[in-house]
Amino acid sequence: MNILAIDTSCDETSVAVTNGTRVLSNVISSQIRYHKKFGGVVPFLAQRLHQERINAVIELGIARSGLGRNDIDAIAVTYGPGLAPALQVGVAKGKELAEELSLPLYAVNHMAGHIASCFAGGKNIEFPALGVLVSGGHTELVLMPRFGTFKILGETLDDAIGEAYDKVAKMLGLGYPGGRLVAQFADEGNSKSFDLPIPMLRSKDLNLSYSGLKNAVRLAIISVKGDSDEPLTREHIADICASFQYVAQASLLAKIEKSVVEYPEIKTVVVGGGVASNAVLRKKLRSLTAKYDLGIAFPVNAKLCTDNAAMIGIAAHLGIEEGQLPVADVEGLDRKPNLRLEKVGE
Ligand code: KG4
Ligand code: ZN
Repeated sequence: MNILAIDTSCDETSVAVTNGTRVLSNVISSQIRYHKKFGGVVPFLAQRLHQERINAVIELGIARSGLGRNDIDAIAVTYGPGLAPALQVGVAKGKELAEELSLPLYAVNHMAGHIASCFAGGKNIEFPALGVLVSGGHTELVLMPRFGTFKILGETLDDAIGEAYDKVAKMLGLGYPGGRLVAQFADEGNSKSFDLPIPMLRSKDLNLSYSGLKNAVRLAIISVKGDSDEPLTREHIADICASFQYVAQASLLAKIEKSVVEYPEIKTVVVGGGVASNAVLRKKLRSLTAKYDLGIAFPVNAKLCTDNAAMIGIAAHLGIEEGQLPVADVEGLDRKPNLRLEKVGE
């Protein structure tokens, strides 16, 4: 089944064509340069830009797949979670296409999409699996007896890990979104140069928290700067980034380890979201899963880690295959900005 998938949950207008877990095309039109000057995503600007671009991105998505409009068998669209005005554009377009082409419409949870991104290319993943969702908006540990049935075991109580990376980048004047830049500076720095506390280490549950760490980084910057108006040296920036990254990841890894110990039925750890492209995190997760003799799965490339529509097409396919994703009621479907991860399409 060829699925045309749409994701407009945040600041990327994306359209893909997928067949099973195969990605035939995955077009991503990023709005980052428009939001950059505001230091974050402006929801109504995102909506306008999605509206301006969506038709062209759909045309390109179909053209790059090598298929024609008539070869499409179903439409899948992200209906939450995300920014309401942004989601609105994709949902309206998905409904319009389903009616125009008389095709079934599937409404997909964006977070199920981030998990599904690990299945691209037909990777064989053993269940039960632990989903680790590390993005700009979410940090969640999810137990999956099979694809499409999700139980959130733990989540951040405040900021998401990607958001913490972005805020550290902002404090250091590295620009937006800064996760990748913080990671690059961290490679040059000494992770032990600042003694930052590892968040939630002593908490008994599987939750995380990143706002305290953000504040600790702010104080570390003040301690280096003192009264000086001089910008930080490259060495200081690198050391702060390395210390932050070490602690941010140590906290996450501790909770992942706690999850696999508490749920010994877990066979594979599946990692999705923008922070899943972090090379240091991947390395540490590989050794952690090797220690417990578990499988590990990441999206095959960086494009599949951050927001994209191919993951929505793959999630729809897996959800349908598992009998977990009913056809949406075109008239009744509405965006759900605060959708929680329970079912692939609920
Ligand atoms: O999954 P995504 O597009 O966001 C949401 O759906 O919310 O991921 C974007 C996030 C941003 O916070 C960005 O800074 C972070 O992923 N990110 C990284 C890296 N690349 C992107 N964080 C750490 N290391 C990276 N290499
Ligand atoms: Zn996302």
